[in-house]
Amino acid sequence: MKENNVNAEELQRQQQYISQLEDILYLRAGNKQPAAFVRTYGCQQNVADSEKLKGMLEQMGCALTEDKTEADIIIFNTCAVREHAEDRVFGNVGELKALKKKKPSLLIGLCGCMMEQQHIAERIHRSFPYVGLVFGTHVIHRFPELVYNAVTGGKRLIERGTDDGQIYEGLPLHRDGSFKGWLPIMYGCDNFCTYCIVPHVRGRERSRLPENIISEAREMVRAGYKDITLLGQNVNSYGKGLDTDISFAQLLKSVAEIEGDFRVRFMTSHPKDASKELIDVMASNDKICNHLHLPFQCGSDRVLKQMNRRYTREKYLEIADYAKSRIPDLSLTSDVIVGFPGETYEEFCETLDLIRRVKFTSLFTFIYSPRVGTPAAKFHDPVSHDEKAKWLGELLKVQEEIAAERCAGMVGNSYRVLVEEQAREGVLNARTANNIVVEINEAPGLIGTFRQVEITEARNWILRGKVRN
Ligand code: SAH
Ligand code: SF4
Ligand code: F3S
Repeated sequence: MKENNVNAEELQRQQQYISQLEDILYLRAGNKQPAAFVRTYGCQQNVADSEKLKGMLEQMGCALTEDKTEADIIIFNTCAVREHAEDRVFGNVGELKALKKKKPSLLIGLCGCMMEQQHIAERIHRSFPYVGLVFGTHVIHRFPELVYNAVTGGKRLIERGTDDGQIYEGLPLHRDGSFKGWLPIMYGCDNFCTYCIVPHVRGRERSRLPENIISEAREMVRAGYKDITLLGQNVNSYGKGLDTDISFAQLLKSVAEIEGDFRVRFMTSHPKDASKELIDVMASNDKICNHLHLPFQCGSDRVLKQMNRRYTREKYLEIADYAKSRIPDLSLTSDVIVGFPGETYEEFCETLDLIRRVKFTSLFTFIYSPRVGTPAAKFHDPVSHDEKAKWLGELLKVQEEIAAERCAGMVGNSYRVLVEEQAREGVLNARTANNIVVEINEAPGLIGTFRQVEITEARNWILRGKVRN
């Protein structure tokens, strides 16, 4: 792995664009501070990227706004993981046409995972002439230069770059939250699950140096962050390719050993690499949340093989059982795909059976969505979408019963929660370490603090509680 300072020169080059842009964007906005709107689709990896884009926009002199109509720059950071995600982006970009007509100097930029796909970039170019800038995930460190070229070049700019395998440290950052934050530890993915577009749009897996991660975590704790999520597509393979010999479990332990009152979580864990060492580290450190997001995707060995997941149902159950036996009150959560090409109803029933056995706290469920360029998109897929939707309905019913039962079992117990946000007038949402949301009737002053809460009521899977201190 290359040292992080090899990019110093490149980052300096970008700083020069930033200084020039301050004046250029001010003038374009009509001699006032320009406003920038950034909308993020997709996973936390994209959220973390958007925090970098926002940091760079602020350095260019922009004020960040939540209101598209007052923006001088609009950026959509897109997700390609399912067709539905892409459709939302196309719909929302269509709505920008009127804004561009009203304010011709408006710069509309599209970036993120969708833009790494040739056919999408072409479609944007063809169908949305008012989009002035398109760029992919491999060039976000060059965002200032791209904005500069887009506003001074007088023509539309599409920049997709290639995966150079590098990690750009030291980019400015505007964190969305003040007490809950994301900390990417690695980028890309090497797993090539046959249904998944992520490795194609995010490039090869690369890990940040442990010292950079630890020092960022330290800074976050010093700045008052109380809930830190370590991010990667497959955190369990952290460290591959680094000169230092370090496992994810060791990294997690080092972060948890930082002094201060905070907690740390991580996602996503791939079952094929989830180790007992990781579970043991989780079990022996109070600051590590007792929450494990371990996507199993499907309960049938035949389908898992077709998906190229490289574990069996038995291996999954073994690690899940070990985790449950070692970590008190563990929340296991998972992603599930329903209706993978060729999956039969009997195979889907194996998924239901696995759900019943493991008793997940919650599930993210998806109907299979074919992605251009992935192997599964060419597999024979005889089951209709309506039929798959029925299967999904069946699955959700099973999961709702499990979640309701689990929630009912929590009544009377006391948990340490982080108060996160206002749910509605007079009600706040707080989160337990095992990632369960509890509603409390308190004033917003408690947001951002840890409290001890007793669960007083469970209505299906919604919990209510009372603050005890
Ligand atoms: N790296 C993570 C997942 C990232 S994508 C992991 O391996 O667990 C998030 C989830 O989207 C996946 O876990 C999967 O359940 C779902 N997903 C990915 N591609 C999909 C597709 N083509 N159709 C339906 N769901 C998909
Ligand atoms: Fe996609 Fe599989 Fe990589 Fe997750 S591990 S991002 S599902 S290819
Ligand atoms: Fe979507 Fe890209 Fe994440 S495809 S799920 S935003 S890595």
